Amino acid sequence: MSKLILKNISQLVPVDEAGPIRGKDMNLIKTIENGFVVTHNHVVVGLGSMEDYDQSLYETGDFMVMDCLGKTVVPGFVDSHTHFVFGGYRENEFKMRLEGKSYMEIMSAGGGIASSVTATRAASAEELYDLGIERLDGMLAMGVTTLEGKSGYGLDLITELKQLQVMKELNSRHPIDLVSTFLGPHSLPPEYKGNQEAYIDFVINEVLPEVKDQDLAEFADIFCEKGVFSVEESKYYLGAAKELGFKLKVHADEIATLGGAEMAVDLGAHSADHLLAVSDQGIKDLAGGSTVATLLPATAYSLNEPFAKAREMIDSGCAVALATDFNPGSCPTYSIPLVISLAALKMKMTAKEIICALTKNGACALDRQDVAGSIEVGKKADILILSKPSIDFLPYHLGMNLVETVIKEGIVVT
Ligand code: NIG
Ligand code: FE
Repeated sequence: MSKLILKNISQLVPVDEAGPIRGKDMNLIKTIENGFVVTHNHVVVGLGSMEDYDQSLYETGDFMVMDCLGKTVVPGFVDSHTHFVFGGYRENEFKMRLEGKSYMEIMSAGGGIASSVTATRAASAEELYDLGIERLDGMLAMGVTTLEGKSGYGLDLITELKQLQVMKELNSRHPIDLVSTFLGPHSLPPEYKGNQEAYIDFVINEVLPEVKDQDLAEFADIFCEKGVFSVEESKYYLGAAKELGFKLKVHADEIATLGGAEMAVDLGAHSADHLLAVSDQGIKDLAGGSTVATLLPATAYSLNEPFAKAREMIDSGCAVALATDFNPGSCPTYSIPLVISLAALKMKMTAKEIICALTKNGACALDRQDVAGSIEVGKKADILILSKPSIDFLPYHLGMNLVETVIKEGIVVT
């Protein structure tokens, strides 16, 4: 069926405002009560209020009508920060954290990222691919149509490339659109113990150029954190990556306040992510710059840390995105409903702000605002039909998946 017509939509939220949507504008996005959307050949060709619906224009040729009375229609979700390709799980470490050990204590004792590195190095590309498909299917069912995925569980040339090649393969075979990020400096590999500088030089001189040559990643990212990589090291690495043509992302101010957000804005990064411990200056810089503040509340929840100050950031004029951060350690879930509940209850974000953060602003964090994150004429028809009549039901039905139908490029996929 080449033409799909969604009619009588109780609430349509197209998020067609120019992005990134910042500050108070996030709560002012337009809603259309009793709306319609028409898609044709994978793109949106019409939308608006049913009062303006032109039957003779749209209901021609081959078409299918879906009645959306009592339902909400929003753009496909953009999960703009995940580490979804990895081998092995770390349920034993989760148990240790429940018993009182901190994430950093486990990492310093040789667990944490290092244990996922061992398992990912040992996994074959086929195993990683199969795990990837299983996870992507789960994400799609929760409405994710565009997804970012990072390397960073190889920390050597072969395994970093393996992770990225698996993502490239997944991108060509699965309906979800994937954006790949190279995260070589995720942690110091055991073979470089005591030799931090040499590892960064190895990444810059031997891994990044290969990733570029094989066109395996669009973004470069680093874990800028106390006891991991310093601001100085991050600047050095990100500067080199930028020079090679990578766009930038930063794991910034997740646990300690280091000034990662300020650095990200300074370097023109597309996003600064985590920000649980961002400084007041960092918030100011984010509000005044072009960098999206990507918040990952499921990670704060899983780590039992205080949540990011979303209210303060939005009230100061930041453009906030929400993502899951799915990974085997600090956030072993890709649940969008959980992220929505936490954003509302723990970060005091409104339903409109949450929708903005999961669509247009996530797309901006991935430089995909021209193709994803909104329902607009001429853009890819990535659309969700929710089972309830307004977006207010998303935070209200705590942890419930309200995504009833996922339309990817004009085709019903779930
Ligand atoms: O975003 N903070 C660094 N990286 C991940 C955690 C990775 C892991 O624990 O495996 C994060 O939280
Ligand atoms: Fe992360």
